[in-house]
Amino acid sequence: MTKEQLQESAQYLQQKGFEAPEIGIVLGTGLGKLVDNITEPIVAHYNHIPFFPLATVEFHSGKLVYGSISGKKVVVMQGRFHLYEGYDFLDITYPIRVMHLLGIEKLLVSNAAGAVNLDFKKGDMMLIDDHINLQGGSPLAFKNVSEFGERFTDMSSPYDADMGKQLVRIAKKQNIRLQRGVYASVVGPQLETRAEYRMLKILGADAVGMSTVPEIIVANHLNLPAVAVSVLTDECDPDNLQPVDVSEIIAIAERTEPKMVQLFRELIKTL
Ligand code: HPA
Repeated sequence: MTKEQLQESAQYLQQKGFEAPEIGIVLGTGLGKLVDNITEPIVAHYNHIPFFPLATVEFHSGKLVYGSISGKKVVVMQGRFHLYEGYDFLDITYPIRVMHLLGIEKLLVSNAAGAVNLDFKKGDMMLIDDHINLQGGSPLAFKNVSEFGERFTDMSSPYDADMGKQLVRIAKKQNIRLQRGVYASVVGPQLETRAEYRMLKILGADAVGMSTVPEIIVANHLNLPAVAVSVLTDECDPDNLQPVDVSEIIAIAERTEPKMVQLFRELIKTL
């Protein structure tokens, strides 16, 4: 990754009409429908953007969508890159850097996650308060990182408190159950063993998933205020662990999606 490559990616998008977006949004598994709320959308498929990671076959629908939501200019990633697909930390965070170059001032992230905290239920949402990186690497561990920002990036409060407060207020007003907690990121793609769920609980995780943390680390590297919300798709009870069916995880994310869309739309109005 070089600055020139990032600039070329951004220029391609600007030429397509991606002008001065204020907010960048990353939509997780089963959460793509927010894009239906975009007026006058312009679409760029990942495979057409110079220097973007090449999308895999199963990931052919990955695209960036630009337009307006609630009167604000947004750029939305419909589909993200995951480590478990064979991408590296620089690949999966490349789009965050491109959106930053386009000019976004806020980042909103969503994902599907398993509930390690058994007070939380399938279909609940969780505002991520903090995280634990268990992916065994960093998107800032490369030779010339200091050309892009502070190498030893502060992570004392990686999630923007003001946007978090707004989300809590909106959820209350809209009668949406919004838990708060710590998200642990793993590589996947296999789900966790009972012993691993016990470990995650001991470590202080409330939810576990396979994304988001690298994106948030890069947002902090760029001084880009970020919030993240998980849809809890399965209950990870090590003493009564049911086999998970990925299609069920996706179905629960899709069922919860309207609430996520509502939360994000209302949040965007306040930004
Ligand atoms: N573990 C990891 N990732 C997940 C899970 C889980 O239980 N559920 C949804 N994404």
